[in-house]
Amino acid sequence: MSRAVIVGQGYAGLPLAVAAARAGHTTIGFDVDAERVRRLAAGDSHIEDVTADTLRDVLANGTYRPSSDEADLADFDVAVIIVPTPLSEGSPDLSHIESAARMLARHLRPGATVILESTTYPGTTDDFVRPLLEEVSGLTAGADFHLGYSSERIDPGNKTWGLKETPKVMAGISDKSAEMVRDFYAQIVDTPVLVSSPRVAELSKLIENTFRHVNIALVNELAMYADSLDVDIWEAVDAASSKPFGFMRFTPGPGVGGHCLPIDPVYLSWQVERTVGRLFRFVELANHINGHMPQYVVQRLMTAMNARRRTINGSRILLLGLAYKANTGDARESPALRVAELLLELGAELHAADPHVSESHPVGDGVVRVELTAEEVERADAVVLLTDHDDFDYDLIAWKAAYVLDCRRRLPRDRAGNVELL
Ligand SMILES: NC(=O)c1ccc[n+]([C@@H]2O[C@H](COP(=O)([O-])OP(=O)(O)OC[C@H]3O[C@@H](n4cnc5c(N)ncnc54)[C@H](O)[C@@H]3O)[C@@H](O)[C@H]2O)c1
Repeated sequence: MSRAVIVGQGYAGLPLAVAAARAGHTTIGFDVDAERVRRLAAGDSHIEDVTADTLRDVLANGTYRPSSDEADLADFDVAVIIVPTPLSEGSPDLSHIESAARMLARHLRPGATVILESTTYPGTTDDFVRPLLEEVSGLTAGADFHLGYSSERIDPGNKTWGLKETPKVMAGISDKSAEMVRDFYAQIVDTPVLVSSPRVAELSKLIENTFRHVNIALVNELAMYADSLDVDIWEAVDAASSKPFGFMRFTPGPGVGGHCLPIDPVYLSWQVERTVGRLFRFVELANHINGHMPQYVVQRLMTAMNARRRTINGSRILLLGLAYKANTGDARESPALRVAELLLELGAELHAADPHVSESHPVGDGVVRVELTAEEVERADAVVLLTDHDDFDYDLIAWKAAYVLDCRRRLPRDRAGNVELL
């Protein structure tokens, strides 16, 4: 079996490294974060989708080894780069990809394969990673070594569609590279989807995320109008969803978060503007609407409290859920954090419960982290359900709360008057 290196042991890289190890590759899970590597080596998984048992199995049988020591990259056969692609002052920041590529190039041997998995704009593999690898290694892509791109579709918390079950898009810079890329993933995923070039694969990922971002924005904008029009948007979405073709269901919420939706579409709009000098208006609009949702949540809460002759200032408010989506501990870019910030600015006494988000995650000074208990719910002047984790006790919330703004339509609605939908 081959020697695989997965560079980046985060939400996307760790599941891939463990899957490669289980497929029989001798796998190095490389990360620059030495503390993360230390914890992984101790069998402590920071990703809910990779259980401690699974991690300990691959550690024990020696197929997986986390490392932050570059010497462990020697003699790799396949290396996958899956490091962050953030924004820096509104523009793509490829610095993590660059340092990972330079590092791998120092260990690149003829016959080896390098695959980029980070989400990025079309052309990154060909125009950015390829020259770096060639310059540092002195080898030629396509002739001496193989190069490709495969998009990451991991959906944290999804019990049905894991890495193995979800079809995976991939491409190589040449026929041989494509074959090597497909051979690697064919041992890990059920359905490799080979496309003609890395550019197509890169764009396909941005289409997926932009599609989601735009459709969430569409339903969020409708939610804001539907309330004024006195129509239940949720019921209207349910009704539209009865159409068996030509419609896909998206539901309103307090905004978008995570590493993908607030960031990836901007990679696409940035590249469109840079290349053709025009604004990608769908992305601009979706950013604007989804970015406004936390303010809308606060405005709805203010209106509801006003009707109860209360102000946000001085009220005790319990936020349920800090993660950006259900059943994950990922609170990066989470709209819940923006809701918290706005409520703190207005003088709320803010408590927040989220059993998935680590206590060490910064959630804003002044937010008291609590557990969801009957007493917490009873003592709150208002409760805002922001993330619909399965392990929240929804009956308890509905029966004990004075008032709930339910941003996810998760609460039983038979308690007249105390539960309102976003
Ligand atoms: N999280 C998801 O659900 C998801 C889904 C699809 C695609 N992606 C994409 O995958 C990529 C990685 O995202 P993530 O969520 O796994 O990020 P993450 O922040 O969870 O993990 C990234 C890891 O890479 C490490 N790292 C950074 N620079 C490094 C370097 N030069 N060498 C080695 N390690 C380095 C960091 O220490 C961190 O542990 C991004 O491009 C993201 O858009 C993520």
